[in-house]
Amino acid sequence: MVLQDKELKEKALNAVEKNKDVVAGDRFRLTYHLMPPVGLLNDPNGLVYFQGYYHVFYQWNPFETKHGIKYWGHYRSKNLVDWETLPITLAPSDWYDKNGCYSGSAVVHDGKLFLFYTGNVRDAEGERETYQCLAVSNDGVHFEKKGPVIHLPEGYTAHFRDPKVWEESGRWYMVIGAQTVKEEGVIVLFSSDDLETWEHHGILAGSNRNGLADFGYMWECPDLFTLNGKDVLVFSPQGLEAEGIKYNNIYQTGYLVGDFDRENNNFTHGEFDELDRGFDFYAPQTLVDDNNRRILYGWMGLPDETEAVHPTRKHQWIHALTIPRELELVEEKLYQKPVEELKQLRGDHVVFDDVDIKDQSIKLPKVEGKTVELAVSVNKSNADVFTLEFGSVAKLSFNQTLQLVTLERKTIKGDGVHSRSCRLNQLSNLRIFLDKSSIEVFLNDGAEVFTARLFDYDNDPTIQFSAKGTINIKVEKWELILGVRHHKKTKRVFFHEQRTGV
Ligand code: FRU
Repeated sequence: MVLQDKELKEKALNAVEKNKDVVAGDRFRLTYHLMPPVGLLNDPNGLVYFQGYYHVFYQWNPFETKHGIKYWGHYRSKNLVDWETLPITLAPSDWYDKNGCYSGSAVVHDGKLFLFYTGNVRDAEGERETYQCLAVSNDGVHFEKKGPVIHLPEGYTAHFRDPKVWEESGRWYMVIGAQTVKEEGVIVLFSSDDLETWEHHGILAGSNRNGLADFGYMWECPDLFTLNGKDVLVFSPQGLEAEGIKYNNIYQTGYLVGDFDRENNNFTHGEFDELDRGFDFYAPQTLVDDNNRRILYGWMGLPDETEAVHPTRKHQWIHALTIPRELELVEEKLYQKPVEELKQLRGDHVVFDDVDIKDQSIKLPKVEGKTVELAVSVNKSNADVFTLEFGSVAKLSFNQTLQLVTLERKTIKGDGVHSRSCRLNQLSNLRIFLDKSSIEVFLNDGAEVFTARLFDYDNDPTIQFSAKGTINIKVEKWELILGVRHHKKTKRVFFHEQRTGV
């Protein structure tokens, strides 16, 4: 029997209450990143700017630190730094979503917030069913489910999910991640005049189409938007084989840039490129705000890969979202930059304008810490290799001869070291965000990004710089102290508002 909505939400709040101390006691808990209060978080959902607030919803299993029946949790913020926790948005309480309120998106229409999500259902034989569902809110806090608006069309398996909706010239469009009956990953297009009746236009892009031979058996979490006059499709394909330094994670996330002919549902595009080069990045989504910025959040994790060995599980929680990143398109390449607002986190600052490193390893006074931002710019270099080492758990190096950047880290299991790499012609600058058990590296103004969890860096939170050859750099470091205040505030607001329902 499906439990009532209220009961299911109450059950989740009880799990939060029961585990709050054990969660808070985890030394790996992040400070300025969004995390689940307990249980497992995966995809960012429903990103939207509405009535003066940024809203971030997320996939949430409150009861376990593994995947299972998903809820939507909810945070909102006026400045992308200080967040408050709002009541649980969606619980899997209806026949069309009883095995999970899966990923989806939000749009604003007539002063209301419309959420589209996938209702995941297993029938009596365990066969998957899928419904694209709607929930509506007047205040962005309380939501009313309206039920399915799209049933599975012919030609696809029940792996049909993650609706992303947007408006253009008075028409609504929706892209959905799907699998054809031939088990090819594809993106499917729908459109609508009223957000309730949707017309199916077929496949917009996919494996074995437009030059993408054998490109995965399922494409998840699509997002299609226009940036700098080009159309960009971001999605997460599953089933790509590793090719040298490419596609080394279990599943990938990347994008295609091209021209999308809305009339004929035809997307001509260039080659697929990965959005992030690190170990822990998946299922990102974007929103556009009142300043016309395109802001992205990703899930700092991956499905099916690390859950079993993840050290935070002991403390009844797992995974987090990335910091928010503003997207820019330069020619055919997506750049990601930490949003300006994150500068509000900056506290104590040290700067070294003119640091010479010559065939040696050095540490700089106060350039260390668990929650810091580091900015390095290269003034001059003829070094073959330039390396930053984070305690004894990670190493980021740029090899000029090979034109390669590599991030090496201790495996999450702790049984060895592994690495991820990407090509880079030349290194001009780095911005790095460390947060207790995570690292996000932005190279050359965000042209390349590495996102990873780092466990045990906090045991020895030092940063060592080395060069083979000679390099001259400028180094700046900030303590990210407002994060601590935000964390406390979130906890306080959390219990009050969830219980009283705002
Ligand atoms: C991606 C994903 C989505 C799905 C959700 C379920 O991580 O598999 O395709 O909607 O997670 O939690």
